[in-house]
Amino acid sequence: MVIRFPELLVAKKPDSQFLERARRAGKSGIKGICLVGMGGSSIAGEMCRGLLLDQSSMPILMVRNYGMPNAVGKKWAVVVVSYSGDTEETLASFEEARSRAATIFVVTTGGTLAERSQSLSTHMVPKGLQPRAALPLLFSAVHPTVEALLAHETTDLEEMSRSLGQQAQNWRTRADPPSAMAEKLMGLMPLFIGWKHLVPVAYRAKCQINENAKAAAFHSELPEADHNEIEAAVSYRKHSVIPVFLRSCFEESSITKRFDVTSEVLSEAGCGSIHLRIKANSALEESLAMTHYLDMTSVELAERLGVDPLKVDRIADLKKKLAAYRSHLSPLS
Ligand code: PA5
Repeated sequence: MVIRFPELLVAKKPDSQFLERARRAGKSGIKGICLVGMGGSSIAGEMCRGLLLDQSSMPILMVRNYGMPNAVGKKWAVVVVSYSGDTEETLASFEEARSRAATIFVVTTGGTLAERSQSLSTHMVPKGLQPRAALPLLFSAVHPTVEALLAHETTDLEEMSRSLGQQAQNWRTRADPPSAMAEKLMGLMPLFIGWKHLVPVAYRAKCQINENAKAAAFHSELPEADHNEIEAAVSYRKHSVIPVFLRSCFEESSITKRFDVTSEVLSEAGCGSIHLRIKANSALEESLAMTHYLDMTSVELAERLGVDPLKVDRIADLKKKLAAYRSHLSPLS
């Protein structure tokens, strides 16, 4: 599934009606965009927010919870993503957005969400993947939708897919392909640290290590981490924490200096670090290519740890327990 990342980016485009509706909503003077989803289904929205917020004329909120912020109302666009279509937090937010008469766009494979969104703009994506591995499919719907809402030109994802395929070919000639990165992370707890559009990539990497490799991982961001986490560096060695700096080709010189000085201060506190760089022509390509590389790292790590990256037993068990609890409550509540 992870190998198919570039191909999945162009496997199922949203149809022209879906995007036209987003364009019309954008022109109608919406006040903001709210992106909704949990876990693997939240990443596409989070990445779009990281990439497009700076150029956006309106707020872009991310909701990973039940419900909606109070500000979201009739003049808002809400993009609801759930791969299964049955995630309870996402369904609750969807219902709340509907009750507030927001303009809703749904991306899903089916489930309750597809049933309830029949009269709305719904983009159906193919079933059969792990939700987190479906990121390129979900991204290829959410990104053009947000672009249309913002009246931006649509990015050519065909071209992007080709570049990502080429980037993956280049792993072979890298000194540190995903397998080598996985090797370096064995027995350590990675702390992925990003800046700007690479903050969601750092978060995604943490989630992929958690879900695919069943291993502890954390994420953080610069410059904020320099005002708190840096003090914990003295304990990183003891706790086997390894900071992994996600470096961008688009760093401003002050940010480059900050990454370098942060790394120096960590090293003086006895803590080594890894710097990951991927050559790219745009922030979008950098975000996707680094995500693909780190997704593959998580699968390589899973293999080395002898765990099945496909199984998420605890997530499934928890969802089952909560569903049983709800059905137990519903007759009385
Ligand atoms: O990747 C996963 O399996 C999870 O993180 C799911 O994405 C998460 O539990 C939400 O489910 P769904 O994506 O079906 O809404």
